[in-house]
Amino acid sequence: MRFQNQVAIVTGAAGGIGSAIVEGLLAEGAYVGLIDANATAGAAYADRLRAAGHRVHFVPTDVSQFDACQTAYDAMTDALGPATILVNNVGISPKTDGRALNVWEMPPQEWDKVVDVNLNSVFYMTRLATPHMVKQNTGRIINMSSVAGRAYCDIVAAHYAATKAALIGLTRHWAAELGPHQITVNALAPGRIATPLLKSVPQEINDAVVNVTALRRLGTPEEVADACLYFASDQARFVTGQVLDVAGGWLMT
Ligand SMILES: NC(=O)c1ccc[n+]([C@@H]2O[C@H](COP(=O)([O-])OP(=O)(O)OC[C@H]3O[C@@H](n4cnc5c(N)ncnc54)[C@H](O)[C@@H]3O)[C@@H](O)[C@H]2O)c1
Repeated sequence: MRFQNQVAIVTGAAGGIGSAIVEGLLAEGAYVGLIDANATAGAAYADRLRAAGHRVHFVPTDVSQFDACQTAYDAMTDALGPATILVNNVGISPKTDGRALNVWEMPPQEWDKVVDVNLNSVFYMTRLATPHMVKQNTGRIINMSSVAGRAYCDIVAAHYAATKAALIGLTRHWAAELGPHQITVNALAPGRIATPLLKSVPQEINDAVVNVTALRRLGTPEEVADACLYFASDQARFVTGQVLDVAGGWLMT
């Protein structure tokens, strides 16, 4: 029970990796604030977790808007108390007909949306959560990057690669900035993980990734959650500014 009575916030909580992280935190005693734009899935998920005896609070939120993040953060703080663990998990990787668009085809609106969801939301949530962490002199922030932020990956578009690489820069910068306040900031770089996000590309593409992954399979959301729980736990108290690949040996950097 590494997180007994600790409050955590997870963004993109109603999806594949986010839900596995939520369940891992709850199983070890945390209270968890769930943020997701999918109001129906999020509410049903929160009901299921409450019925299983867990303490959660769900606020339907589009994380690309600062005001919406602020409303969600305040509601969660009222319901559960201020968070000392923040998992910036949310992320999107838009495709058109199963294909990543080239730069000469990319609608600027799609670029902006990916930057808002994958990058700006991480600033918004961290901006909101850190005043309390600094005051308490403790905190754990985990940013969900991707191997596509570390190495060239032909199945994602440039907006995804750029935002995931930016999260690695943010992780390093905030680790230095927040370290004197005993707040650690780390990033995860998952490889190909079996979640709904994978259905945006044809099966052959996922099969091709498996063929060049050392462990010859896709990862599971729980395997990413295990690494996230390590960063969130006291076991990682002297680990900060790090990026951990959870990729089965795909695109080893
Ligand atoms: N699945 C993979 O192979 C893989 C690989 C590397 C990195 N990642 C990263 O892991 C994270 C989770 O990925 P996943 O595969 O579980 O994704 P997913 O698509 O299964 O789930 C994402 C969740 O985020 C929510 N969401 C989307 N836009 C939102 C918004 N604007 N505001 C609030 N919520 C929003 C969705 O409703 C969904 O519940 C993402 O950051 C993704 O980039 C995934």
